[in-house]
Amino acid sequence: MNYRHAFHAGNFADVVKHLALVAILEHLRRKEAGFAVIDSHAGRGLYDLAGDEARRGGEWQEGIAKLQRRDDGPDLVRRYRALVSRFGAASYPGSPLIAALLLRPQDRLVAIEKHPEEFAALRQVLRPFKRARAVEADGYQRLPALLPPAERRGLVLIDPPYESPDEFAAAARAVKAVLTRFATAAILIWFPIKSMAAADAFCGEVKAQGAAKLLRVEFRLAPPGDRLTACGLLIVNPPFGFDHEMAQALEHLAPLLGAGMAEKWRVSWLSGAK
Ligand SMILES: C[S@@+](CC[C@H](N)C(=O)[O-])C[C@H]1O[C@@H](n2cnc3c(N)ncnc32)[C@H](O)[C@@H]1O
Repeated sequence: MNYRHAFHAGNFADVVKHLALVAILEHLRRKEAGFAVIDSHAGRGLYDLAGDEARRGGEWQEGIAKLQRRDDGPDLVRRYRALVSRFGAASYPGSPLIAALLLRPQDRLVAIEKHPEEFAALRQVLRPFKRARAVEADGYQRLPALLPPAERRGLVLIDPPYESPDEFAAAARAVKAVLTRFATAAILIWFPIKSMAAADAFCGEVKAQGAAKLLRVEFRLAPPGDRLTACGLLIVNPPFGFDHEMAQALEHLAPLLGAGMAEKWRVSWLSGAK
């Protein structure tokens, strides 16, 4: 486990993923009934953009920093930016902190992190949130025990580091494990695109797990290669209207983040209703 998200926090891929996270949680908040969020690969929760790793990587300069220089954009972009801006220009909130901020008293978050140092930081970050719990464990192993949540509504975020090639298969198996126990779950899976063939194969594998509704989102700064210049999201059971909201947000983001491709972003249904 060499991966440290601090090198990448706030980069274009985090921006795309966290926009989707905010959109889904806002949809869940529209109904009074409580929901559960399970973040299987949570990270440390808050990243210091002035810290050593973030400065060495510098990736946030090409991501969230470009967004923060503006005050325009579709509603979703504005709300995400406002949420991130609460932490000032030198810090960036990760997925468990974003989720914790969007919980209501009837909602709940379980954030799982395997790396001991990242977990220790995560526990501190989530301490003020009574409805959020940090768990030190392997996300894949722990997921089944948490499903279905008592609320019977909610989101599972699967955001592994993809350090090893079999992580794609592990993520697809996790989707199956979630769907078997909690068929109505919204599931948000982030994945890197370093080759279109590998991305297509992964999407096919997740589709084969049998989700009734599956949406694919892609964002590309440049043609896929060794450096991360493109990323994707798969969303099982996305809320109604999520596809349009993401399309609007990505259309705004593409010129801002300097996406130089002919097709900079794509939102497409792999299965299920439009
Ligand atoms: C891409 S980062 C997560 C970023 C976070 N979801 C966010 O958006 O802010 C992946 C995290 O998963 C952790 N990790 C790696 N393998 C894991 C496993 N099997 N179970 C749980 N966490 C794991 C890493 O230590 C790292 O913090």
